[in-house]
Amino acid sequence: MLTFNILTIFPNMFSALTDESIIKRAQEKKKVAIKVHDLRDYTKGKHRSVDDRPFGGGPGMVMLPEPIFSAIKKIKGRTKAKVILTTPSGKPFSQKIAKNLAKEKNLIILCGHYEGVDERVAALVDESISIGDYVLTGGELPAMVVVDAITRLIPGVLGKEASLESESFENNLLEYPQYTRPADFKGMKVPAVLLSGNHKDIHAWRHQESLKRTKKFRPDLLK
Ligand code: ADE
Repeated sequence: MLTFNILTIFPNMFSALTDESIIKRAQEKKKVAIKVHDLRDYTKGKHRSVDDRPFGGGPGMVMLPEPIFSAIKKIKGRTKAKVILTTPSGKPFSQKIAKNLAKEKNLIILCGHYEGVDERVAALVDESISIGDYVLTGGELPAMVVVDAITRLIPGVLGKEASLESESFENNLLEYPQYTRPADFKGMKVPAVLLSGNHKDIHAWRHQESLKRTKKFRPDLLK
């Protein structure tokens, strides 16, 4: 079982991930455990501060190293957990990174905030991850993205019929278009080949469509 330990100042946000659908069932099936830790529980003063002004001046606040160090030490205990920080200045998240992380037993995900975390926290971080070139209000949504993408790759989480091999980003191609009933919807017809029952033709058509779509929307994947 893979245990995710999330370290956050907004623990309530995570119910959106943990209490619904496939991720909820993955926990019930003991494929993953998702433990959400409130960073404020690791603060010392009565104000429970997790941030302070940056040395050298400038706008915004910086996350204090002290609560993060205490929390990670406590959560890690004697385990060999890999520590991930979500930050826009991290390495771009990808299916490949998700696959590698799905092999881990214990992950600690620290949700970054404000102008960033005190640089001395870097000593504890194994991997910094960004989910894209845009800035969010905090690292919670990115942490949820990372947990979701990893969890669905764990054997037994998705139904038997789901094929992880033929989905987008495998073979560097985007997914081909899908259709379901009715075969004619308001005059918009499903491509005839899909109704032909000829699996060889269907396979060839899907491959062509994947290529077309990738050329159009993600030519960078074809390089
Ligand atoms: N925190 C704020 N924006 C982020 C992003 N794009 N990826 C990861 N963490 C973030």
